[in-house]
Amino acid sequence: MNKMIIDTTHLKGRINRDLYGHFSEHLGRCIYEGLWVGTDSAIPNIRGFRKDVLEALQKIKVPTLRWPGGCFADEYHWMDGIGPKEKRKKMINTNWGGVIETNEFGTHEFLDLCELLECDAYICGNVGSGTVREMSEWVEYMTFAGESPMANLRRANGRDKPWKVPYFGVGNENWGGGGNMRPEFYADLYRQYQTFVRKYDGNSIYKIAGGAPGDDKNWTEVLMANAAKYMDGLSLHYYTMPGDWTYKGLAVDFPVSEWALVMKRSLYMETLINEHGTIMDKYDPAKRVGLILDEWGTWYEVEKGTNPGFLYQQNTIRDALVAGIHLNIFNNHCDRVRMANIAQVANVLQAPILTRGAEMILTPTYHVFDMYSVHQNAELVESRIECAGYGTEKEAALAAEIPCISGSVSTKDGYLNVSLCNLDHANAHEIECEFFGRTATASATTVIGRVLTGDAIDSRNTFEKPSTIIPKPFTDFSWTDGKLKVKLPARSVVTLLIKN
Ligand code: AHR
Repeated sequence: MNKMIIDTTHLKGRINRDLYGHFSEHLGRCIYEGLWVGTDSAIPNIRGFRKDVLEALQKIKVPTLRWPGGCFADEYHWMDGIGPKEKRKKMINTNWGGVIETNEFGTHEFLDLCELLECDAYICGNVGSGTVREMSEWVEYMTFAGESPMANLRRANGRDKPWKVPYFGVGNENWGGGGNMRPEFYADLYRQYQTFVRKYDGNSIYKIAGGAPGDDKNWTEVLMANAAKYMDGLSLHYYTMPGDWTYKGLAVDFPVSEWALVMKRSLYMETLINEHGTIMDKYDPAKRVGLILDEWGTWYEVEKGTNPGFLYQQNTIRDALVAGIHLNIFNNHCDRVRMANIAQVANVLQAPILTRGAEMILTPTYHVFDMYSVHQNAELVESRIECAGYGTEKEAALAAEIPCISGSVSTKDGYLNVSLCNLDHANAHEIECEFFGRTATASATTVIGRVLTGDAIDSRNTFEKPSTIIPKPFTDFSWTDGKLKVKLPARSVVTLLIKN
């Protein structure tokens, strides 16, 4: 029998709500169409932002939004995106489809969006093609309350009060699209640029250094050795794909073998956190510097007939599992991982939201963020899973590497929040939860259960059938001697809120 041992007497720290963050880049239809339609649009909007999308994002309590990229950030010149819209400079989005960027959505629009969502802004500055002065003035423009050239310019553009910008990233992927730098060079540039990211008027800014691609441990080593004391966070990017950069694999209509691969590669996130975390521990044993997973999620071949530079892909129950696995891993490593941002919030890569004209659908990934929102700012509870390997005989080779169940537990407001994923595409699995220190009496009424699953391995929501995959009430559990036996359907994500 698979087992989850839950020790409620052992709390392991707060799950920062920012682990549930999102990422919005000037890429494809993420900003334009996905979030912003403009005030003249026939699509219902609030100050230019789609009303349906705003409401959906408010429901999952988006804690943090990263902007303007990504690769785009290292070519973005913020002054082109302020002032009267008709006077804003147009530019080519060289990274993403070579389309015209109108700069209609700029600093004011982004920070207005964060205020509407009541979420924290995470701005990524331009190191690759920008200057120290440009970055410094951007921070002054956004956050300085007093009299100064940039604060006055902000006022002239209609915003008197400074905004809060709690998170600031100094460059993006500077080992690649952000300048093809060596880590030694970037570490020095980071030290220089961050000096001028000023904390005006007691405004606190958490400074994030650009981190490694996946398993490049040397990048983390060099950054930590040379710049740790100047940073609050160090980022790390990792995308899950069943193939490789030459052929990434399909989002739908994929073979079963690719289901298993995606599970395995999602679990690899834990290896990466452990490996990069071990390097960080060497220089920062107190874990002051946060590991910031500010780009994660699935990356498949784009949907047929769409612009290859727009990275539009469908989202299935497999992606829901990917989300559940990642969020469990982030929860379980909340001592080091302080923020994570799924790529990206709408219409790009593993998007929680897809739009088509005036229509919007919520993807299976969205529903996992909804179900898991109970973990935001909760206390992590010690838990351990002992379970069988994944799959049927055919996947026997993988079984040794892939546990069939992933999970995490937190506590908040008198509830234990247990989230469980059954990674097995074909078989239901039972798991027995054994508790230490739980005082409440066991009974069926003390549990609120929800389940997300689909009939096929690529079940999904479409504009024609938007509610194929939605969370349903879950009751397939029973109590015996204070232990909770749960039957997880094949390919499912389950959350149980248990009165403690
Ligand atoms: O999320 C898409 C792209 O992936 C980002 O722009 C870049 O940082 C990463 O390579």
